[in-house]
Amino acid sequence: MSHPLRRLHMMRIEVFLDEAAAAVALRNEVVRGLTSSPKALSPTWLYDERGCELYDDITRLNEYYPFRAERSILAAHAKDVISASEPNVLVELGSGTSEKTRFLLDAMPMPATYVPFDVAESTLRDAAEALMNEYPGLDVHGIVGDFGHDIVHIPREGRRLIALLGSTIGNFTPDERAQMLRTVRETMNPGDAFLLGTDLQKDRGRLVAAYDDSLGVTAAFNLNVLVRLNRDLGANFDVERFRHRAVYDEAHNWIEMQLVSLFDQRVRVDGLDLEVGFTEGEVLRTEISAKFTPSAVNHELAAADMRVTDRWTDDAGDFLLTIAEVA
Ligand code: AVJ
Repeated sequence: MSHPLRRLHMMRIEVFLDEAAAAVALRNEVVRGLTSSPKALSPTWLYDERGCELYDDITRLNEYYPFRAERSILAAHAKDVISASEPNVLVELGSGTSEKTRFLLDAMPMPATYVPFDVAESTLRDAAEALMNEYPGLDVHGIVGDFGHDIVHIPREGRRLIALLGSTIGNFTPDERAQMLRTVRETMNPGDAFLLGTDLQKDRGRLVAAYDDSLGVTAAFNLNVLVRLNRDLGANFDVERFRHRAVYDEAHNWIEMQLVSLFDQRVRVDGLDLEVGFTEGEVLRTEISAKFTPSAVNHELAAADMRVTDRWTDDAGDFLLTIAEVA
């Protein structure tokens, strides 16, 4: 029996993902993406098990500054974030391994509730369990779901800090971002706060290097999407016949990860009963990663009816954390 004075904490994980529906959506999206011009895939495809491992390796690369920059802001300002919002519930959208969450939890008075929200159920379960063990007084109420449908399922009780870290928002187009911020805003009660991490515009050489590192880890991460299409959809992509490229699109202020066809070639996707042609030099876009200015972030939040109350950058001014409330 546990110690009678020990507070009983709770872990609850709700799964809203409809895997069959998600698989159908992804298949439709691949058909559309491979038959449109220019060709494009959703970044979602990058994050299979191998993709997640490779992304983890990316965060340790010298060239990939965003991860360390955001961590240093949190290390310096988690207390300020918490005293600005005084939450007893921390909601984390796209919580992944919850690595940076500890900075915020360390600054939060206990008891408190942590609500991780992610598509990856097993990663979320592992992270939730680890945090339960590290923080006596922490209840965990996890939500397994996707950004598109399931934000509405986030519990609304308590005074909440809703965090969207890692510049995850940069993977969405401006329209998708506007939609997503409005959805977040709709779930907010007066007194709740929203914490947003965004990568900032900077010298294009550094931006491109962050997405085209000298060890080729990002290249492997990008090419892995073809391996996944081969496995999950019975495609016959030859990984050797494509190369990774990162370009900075100055008109849209985003990094584009691309796979460039090295030859004229045809690829079969048996699972979709589809055959697609690539011309030599043709581009398949696999991800965008938007880069912001602080004032653009304020504008996007204002358009979603939120008002910025404070913001912090790292010493080098590479990355931005913004806190906003209901306007
Ligand atoms: C995890 C989406 C924040 O856009 O910087 C890293 C993903 N892609 N290198 C980013 C990524 C290539 C990353 N995010």
